[in-house]
Amino acid sequence: MSPRTVAFSRTRLTELMVPSFANFGGKVHGGIILSLMDKVAYACASKHAGAYCVTVTVDGVEFLQPVEVGELLSLDATVHYVGNTSLVVGIKVTSENIKTNKVKHTNNSFFTMVAKDDNGVPVKVPELELSNPHEMRHFVTTIKRNKVKREAQARIQKEHDDFIPKEDFVLLDKQRCTITFDKDASYTQE
Ligand SMILES: CC(C)(COP(=O)(O)OP(=O)(O)OC[C@H]1O[C@@H](n2cnc3c(N)ncnc32)[C@H](O)[C@@H]1OP(=O)(O)O)[C@@H](O)C(=O)NCCC(=O)NCCS
Repeated sequence: MSPRTVAFSRTRLTELMVPSFANFGGKVHGGIILSLMDKVAYACASKHAGAYCVTVTVDGVEFLQPVEVGELLSLDATVHYVGNTSLVVGIKVTSENIKTNKVKHTNNSFFTMVAKDDNGVPVKVPELELSNPHEMRHFVTTIKRNKVKREAQARIQKEHDDFIPKEDFVLLDKQRCTITFDKDASYTQE
């Protein structure tokens, strides 16, 4: 299997934000944008892999600015990293006001996808050819992000497992919550 360039699977999806996409506040539903992100991630990953891909994790979704009905949303996807059967697709979302041509950056996200064969078994994906320092930066940053993520997940799991109500009441001192149960109530983990 020969390596594939980043350019080979680069994918742009552009969609007009029609009134049926609006929420009760008149802005575009976050779920509509997430669905389009999943679609472009799938197209980009599957093109690189030459196989169907499934979404495993989504990182970094944060809507920085609202998207208005009538704007033109563009989603630019490139492969940032490949493992054996998994690959990470970076997506940049921008939204353009058609009348003023003003473009705003709404978010960057990272979709981990796994390639599968017709029986649903993960299959190896081609290596990624890195043609410039920019592409190398994406690859290396993904390795580092994955490491930080694994460490953070392990830490959060430990905090969850180590929960002892009597010791953690102090953390609620300045929080906006009210305790309505007996602070001496016994606790057993579910
Ligand atoms: C993703 C999935 C294939 C992993 O299955 P698995 O039996 O754990 O397979 P493996 O252990 O061989 O892992 C396959 C790859 O997924 C990666 N992976 C699995 N879980 C992961 C996670 N939580 N985060 C990042 N990568 C993950 C593994 O690192 C491995 O990558 P590599 O081959 O590049 O090293 C399986 O959990 C699945 O099919 N999930 C459902 C996906 C889906 O249907 N998504 C659509 C939304 S419903």
